[in-house]
Amino acid sequence: MENATQTVRAYNESWLSLNGRQPTVFISTFGCQANVHDSEKISGLLHEMGYAQATSETQAGLVIYNTCCVRENAENKLFGHLGELKRAKERNRELRIAVCGCMMQTDAAVEKLLRSYPYVDLIFGTHNLHALPELLLASIESCGQVVDIWDSSDDIREDLPVKREHSFKASVNIMYGCDNYCSYCIVPYVRGRERSRKSADIVRECEKLSSDGVRELLLLGQNVNSYGAGLGEGVNFARLLRRLNKIDGLERIRFMTSHPKDLSDELIEAIVDCRKICRHVHLPIQSGSDAILEKMNRRYIKEDYLELVRKLMAISPDMRITTDIIVGFPGETEADFEHTLDVVRRARFSNAFTFKYSKRTGTPAAAMEQVPDDIVSERFTRLLGALNPIVYEISLSNVGKVVSVLVEERNPVDPALFTGRAEDNSIVHFSGNSAKIGDIIDVKITGCKTFYLTGEAMT
Ligand code: 5AD
Ligand code: SF4
Repeated sequence: MENATQTVRAYNESWLSLNGRQPTVFISTFGCQANVHDSEKISGLLHEMGYAQATSETQAGLVIYNTCCVRENAENKLFGHLGELKRAKERNRELRIAVCGCMMQTDAAVEKLLRSYPYVDLIFGTHNLHALPELLLASIESCGQVVDIWDSSDDIREDLPVKREHSFKASVNIMYGCDNYCSYCIVPYVRGRERSRKSADIVRECEKLSSDGVRELLLLGQNVNSYGAGLGEGVNFARLLRRLNKIDGLERIRFMTSHPKDLSDELIEAIVDCRKICRHVHLPIQSGSDAILEKMNRRYIKEDYLELVRKLMAISPDMRITTDIIVGFPGETEADFEHTLDVVRRARFSNAFTFKYSKRTGTPAAAMEQVPDDIVSERFTRLLGALNPIVYEISLSNVGKVVSVLVEERNPVDPALFTGRAEDNSIVHFSGNSAKIGDIIDVKITGCKTFYLTGEAMT
């Protein structure tokens, strides 16, 4: 590893002295927070190899696409980008293109890349991103394509450098992979078996982040509620949270994603006791119909879910629950869909990611009878019609309150304003002369739209 890093770095140093500027990389990330965090690791490795960050695809010498395959439209987006880069590559022979991430763990996608996008230089997967220095070196020193994809990985690499996007908040993987095999989902096939990191490694990383100035942690796992299973340490997610809550300097702890089947009373008690844990839980329901939940292999029923919502809401009146919902899962009837609308009305989600079911080759649901597109679209519109007024009502209930906001950036549209996140994960745009990025400050909420709040800093 060391040697490949140093050799690429040496190449980049001679390129710098020839061209008078540092070689640059642009990383384009599709999909979830796990991918965003993988890109921070890729960025850390590339930084060690002497690359600077480019501001756009067209200005970079190396472009890396970190792909997602959870739904078909994420895949189509990649092919659109690659099509556009073909012309850039014709203009600039030196441009190097790499594609990695979840999509590369499926045979069909790799075959399509090899067949239709021969100008892609390097292809690797989710299990070998730590090997990027060797792979990049092989790509630089060979004239052809370099393709290396591993089927699985048992060990966890603790030694990768990370170039974090923000100084004040950070994502931390607590586990990798997924063993739940929801019948619509490709993730278990592309991310491998569930593996938890040792709690001591996680605590050490979080302590270091805190001493580097991080105020907010986002703990990542496909199902954080099963953290620790199989580790043999006698530690579970609730105990891990209690441990992290003691770290000085940290002010907020978030986590995602929680699977309803594994959300324990012990976790609820930990949320009650630990003031740093944000009063927000992302709890995907997927469908409100017991028959569909069964076909999805979710292992809970609608009433179990609503009971969890009641328990979580009892923690505090400020508690907020967000969710993921899939419309048009195979065999979904009008009556099934009505159950989803019923949960939306009863659970009162403060926000939801809503998806039309997307058929993923190789998953059990792909072989089930599909719902016609026009029915899926019609239900999707009705779902938003039920959801958005509730989201707006919850947003409106914040007006007049003072909320604590982590200041994240200057507002990209109106630089006179700042943008940050409240503890319940609401986006807040606000005015305030003395606000500093990375601080947590009090903001008086004076207005709202469905998906954001507006206000004024109190100091
Ligand atoms: N079709 C539509 N949505 C899906 N998700 C996962 N797989 C699919 C699919 N095949 C959604 C689920 C999950 C979120 C990350 O993506 O709602 O919680
Ligand atoms: Fe996919 Fe289900 Fe695992 Fe989530 S828990 S990643 S939806 S298989």
